[in-house]
Amino acid sequence: MTEPVLTARGLRKVFRSAGRTVAALDGVDLHLAAGETLGIVGTSGCGKSTLARVLLRLVEPDAGSIALAGRDFRSLAGGALRAARRDIQIVFQDPVAAFNPRASVAGVLGDPLRIHGIATPDALPQIVHTLLERVGLPSSLASRPVRDLSGGQRQRVAIARALATRPRAIVLDEPVSALDVSVRGQILNLLDDLRRAENLAYLFISHDIGAVNAFADRICVMESGRMVEEGPPNAVIRAPRTIAARTLIDAVMRLPRQDAASGTPT
Ligand SMILES: Nc1ncnc2c1ncn2[C@@H]1O[C@H](COP(=O)(O)OP(=O)(O)OP(=O)(O)O)[C@@H](O)[C@H]1O
Ligand SMILES: [Mg+2]
Repeated sequence: MTEPVLTARGLRKVFRSAGRTVAALDGVDLHLAAGETLGIVGTSGCGKSTLARVLLRLVEPDAGSIALAGRDFRSLAGGALRAARRDIQIVFQDPVAAFNPRASVAGVLGDPLRIHGIATPDALPQIVHTLLERVGLPSSLASRPVRDLSGGQRQRVAIARALATRPRAIVLDEPVSALDVSVRGQILNLLDDLRRAENLAYLFISHDIGAVNAFADRICVMESGRMVEEGPPNAVIRAPRTIAARTLIDAVMRLPRQDAASGTPT
């Protein structure tokens, strides 16, 4: 087996607010190999987004270790931390909240390129053009404010921004949940094409075990800050071993099925 891109051991994060204590992460272990898509599924509030933020070091955990591309990610600071951050990026659920709506598309894509010293000012327009091309957007969008874009276009910009640093891993926190059903498949196809082309590793977070089934190589089921079940998606869906997994499967089964021919619910 190749060395994992990302490994976490014993991650713990407790939130205290308004007299309430929540262990959002209560001893989470995971590993992610190059080119692999690991699905993390669980009901609302089980700690998925906290895991995403902790893995990016946007939130510091109370305990646990994170190895990113063989480095002890939690011990890094300053320039070494900035350099390591190129290896892991995130795409959030809400493409509206993810950006300053007044910023231009080129501005949004230029930020990581500038911060990480990837492009000189002269080279920026060409790199922005290439990034837009890779996510299927016309380069004419570069000068437009992000607020002029549709939800699907914004999420493509968010993916382009994540790609800008040439990461090894991308955390996708419910990347299509806020989008129209009609564009979800297009975004998932784009993500899958990019993963193959770049040997990217994805941590694909979702409450929808059906979506994860189609997209992930392996899934982990999360409940109350813990990983309670792990395996190939088919195996977990066919024979769930925990009530948490069963609940997620039942939630998908209750939804009206899409009729493949007409595209209308049956
Ligand atoms: N900054 C915070 N302060 C206090 N509590 C928090 C904070 N962030 C998260 N929590 C709590 O931690 C728990 C896990 O939240 P988290 O957002 O990680 O769940 P989630 O699985 O992403 O849920 P969803 O599916 O709704 O996005 C919840 O009980 C939440 O209320
Ligand atoms: Mg969340």
